[in-house]
Amino acid sequence: MRPIDPPGGTGTHRSPDEAPIRVYRLASPTAADQEGPSAAILAKFRVYLPDRPGSLASFATTIARAEGNISFFHYDRSIHSSRVAVEVQLDDEPRLEKLLDTLKKNQFQIMQQETQDDVLVTAVESILDIKVRLANRPGTLAAFARLLSDHEANVIYMLYDEDIDPESAHIAMVTKDPREIDRLLQAINEQGYHYRVVYRGSDEQEASTIIGLKMVEKFFLRLKKLLPASDIAEIKSLVESSRDLYQDLVHFATEAGNNLEAGDVFETVLTFASRSRSRAGNTFSATIMGPLRFPDRVALWGFRLPTSENFYLFQDKDDLTLIDAGRGIYYTDIKNLIKKQGMDPSRLRQIYITHPDTDHAGASGYFEKEFGTQVIMHPGSADVIAHMNRAAGATHPGLLNLNKYYTRLSIRFTECLFPSQPRYFSTAGAGSRGPFSVIDQFSIGPLRFDVLESLGGHTPGMVFFLNQEFGLLFTSDFLLNVPSLTAEEKEHLGIYRYLLTNPNRDSRVYKDETAALKTMMLDLDRVLKSRGGHATIFPGHGAYYAADMKL
Ligand SMILES: [Fe+2]
Ligand SMILES: [Fe+2]
Repeated sequence: MRPIDPPGGTGTHRSPDEAPIRVYRLASPTAADQEGPSAAILAKFRVYLPDRPGSLASFATTIARAEGNISFFHYDRSIHSSRVAVEVQLDDEPRLEKLLDTLKKNQFQIMQQETQDDVLVTAVESILDIKVRLANRPGTLAAFARLLSDHEANVIYMLYDEDIDPESAHIAMVTKDPREIDRLLQAINEQGYHYRVVYRGSDEQEASTIIGLKMVEKFFLRLKKLLPASDIAEIKSLVESSRDLYQDLVHFATEAGNNLEAGDVFETVLTFASRSRSRAGNTFSATIMGPLRFPDRVALWGFRLPTSENFYLFQDKDDLTLIDAGRGIYYTDIKNLIKKQGMDPSRLRQIYITHPDTDHAGASGYFEKEFGTQVIMHPGSADVIAHMNRAAGATHPGLLNLNKYYTRLSIRFTECLFPSQPRYFSTAGAGSRGPFSVIDQFSIGPLRFDVLESLGGHTPGMVFFLNQEFGLLFTSDFLLNVPSLTAEEKEHLGIYRYLLTNPNRDSRVYKDETAALKTMMLDLDRVLKSRGGHATIFPGHGAYYAADMKL
């Protein structure tokens, strides 16, 4: 087979993606080959088809009208939603010319822009994947494609390769209404096609193995296993309302696929974070811890939000201070919660942030905006906020992209608002506690706090707050009190897997830090016990607990 120029002889015919149409002259068929169809020309090209029902039928009809026989056809919507690779055999050059003309007239070449699909497959029940026998002659595919088109079935995958099997095509399709699949199968039967069902929508199969689905659809199918339909509908409408968000979700799902184990954990955490959307407002509920009193003037409350994260509130006379602020989506609920305890949220003077994750810092920007509350955080948080990447500035950059898209999605899904004018802790250093630098100090009423700089195991810009006098340590995502969480809360946090492979920047450092914090608190506990006191750990998830308690 030798390549020849397309008709016109200039070699300038180009398919829409600028790759030329390659045309080959086929060797004359021998007498022995005469039983099957014969052809003189083979044209290979790629064409853009709109991702909607009927597209394939219209394309295949165009080829049939030019008396072309399709010998290879490959379309996989999960790779490219509108690109088809095709090879067509034709009897002579005038027919090739006619084909190219007809394609052009039918505008198959001018569709250059990828458009966002109006169809997002989120129900496996509407997917059908079959291998069907199609006689190897012009028009067969067109006839079958018309049948699919009649039932508004959108082809999401198709492979036909004459060299592999000249009479069989592998086609996956999706209908808007799952019941249409039954009617379509009935029609295929009535018209006498022979076929074998490869897959027919069932939740048992892992979404990742279904062909022709886009990454974003595989993500939604995974959500379906974890969240109720109402939650998914809300997330889906949010994603469909924003091209950027849609793209972020595609990138996130791609990165999760590239980093299987971590990707799985991030997907789970994001899935449960997304659930916060349905737990705000009418269905909001919180666990209230405390108040504890230090010594009798300052009260300390802990509040556990529906998706397991805590924020802590200090009341010193009328002035209020928070340690962390919870997710942005709960902002109104958080204000109501504070009011219900008889306090006035407009009296919030400061919010000290442990680290710039959305579950701890997400509502802080709303307090700043509404009440002018000052938000104080580690300067390392600035990078995270500016780049919308919780791994930003990491010296150990692994999973940078996965973290980036996770952060962006988590911010949007949970309506995180970081402060626009945060104040940063000094990092000048004023001594150390174990392996941790004491970088700054602050007071809440008579209580003095040391700001301990994390070694970076979880996120950049992370700190712990330690009051030595009363033995209080605020650890956020370290030393979590897992047993105190309800089954649903554990599920929200994806806690067990979170702890094993978790969204930490460096799991080894995370383990070392955990051990160092524990040792530090046990040492402090011994000192305080000799004076009749004890040390207490205030984690970001789960109840606070005595430092010597074995979890
Ligand atoms: Fe965190
Ligand atoms: Fe957290």
